[in-house]
Amino acid sequence: MEIINAVNLSFQYNNGKTVLDNINLKIIKGKKTAILGKNGSGKSTLMKLIIGLLPIKSGSLLINGYDINSSEGIKYVRDHCGIVFQNPDNQFVSPIIEEDIKFGLKNHKISKKEYSSRIDESLEKVDLRGYEKKSINTLSGGQKQRAATADVLAVYPDILIFDESTSMIDPKGRSEILTCIQNLEKEDKTIIIITQNVDDVIDADFIYLLADQKVLSSGTPNEVLSDYKKLEYAGIQIPFPVRVYYDLKEKGINLPYCPLSLQKLAEEICSLD
Ligand SMILES: Nc1ncnc2c1ncn2[C@@H]1O[C@H](COP(=O)(O)OP(=O)(O)OP(=O)(O)O)[C@@H](O)[C@H]1O
Ligand SMILES: [Mg+2]
Repeated sequence: MEIINAVNLSFQYNNGKTVLDNINLKIIKGKKTAILGKNGSGKSTLMKLIIGLLPIKSGSLLINGYDINSSEGIKYVRDHCGIVFQNPDNQFVSPIIEEDIKFGLKNHKISKKEYSSRIDESLEKVDLRGYEKKSINTLSGGQKQRAATADVLAVYPDILIFDESTSMIDPKGRSEILTCIQNLEKEDKTIIIITQNVDDVIDADFIYLLADQKVLSSGTPNEVLSDYKKLEYAGIQIPFPVRVYYDLKEKGINLPYCPLSLQKLAEEICSLD
């Protein structure tokens, strides 16, 4: 069942420039959906429309069946949607991890009796148990993103949005946050990954690729990422295995199907006679 349904959604900022032009998308409950697009393609604008931070001017957007422009829609987002931004420093309100989590719990009117178990539980999920009293300043980029994720997890969101959460951190931090997101998938949360990095979307259930203010293509990772011409057009890096697949094809070597991971690529090459 779709938890977010956008129909003919268009958006212009006050300068009149169209940023989103007739976007249609469905985000399915409990799945991981990626919004992939280069710098300035309108990803964050779309996210802001989804969470009601920007008003819908044209088209419609339903979230859990509620019109996002209605008070029920806004309430749903406030109660059930958690967002982790590119720069988590803008998200923390307290210098100490557990105090920061408590702030969110208080905002959501969670009973004080539950604070300690929710803090333990959410830090456990992001692999930061034992960091309760740590100062956020002392954390690495990846740890900060995970602490920001713990903040939102503590209030039990149904929908989790990661807006370029991996873009400012080193490879180790990136892989930490990606593992953390993979674990959340097992919990049946609806996850939205917003990114310009193709590596972040390979294991998504569904991808929307944005270009020219529109959805240029959509489908499973295999469907979207093996179409290198569209990726190229959208200004997205072509995954290395896809590049190799087409290079080999040009030389008359046909792999059985277009691989997305290095491991699959290696397996296919090894299986050639
Ligand atoms: N408040 C604003 N007023 C006017 N134009 C804006 C505003 N915010 C964003 N834009 C423009 O809208 C377009 C889409 O921006 P948006 O931030 O949604 O893109 P993005 O895909 O999230 O980019 P990035 O990868 O840099 O995060 C860009 O051309 C941007 O300059
Ligand atoms: Mg953005």
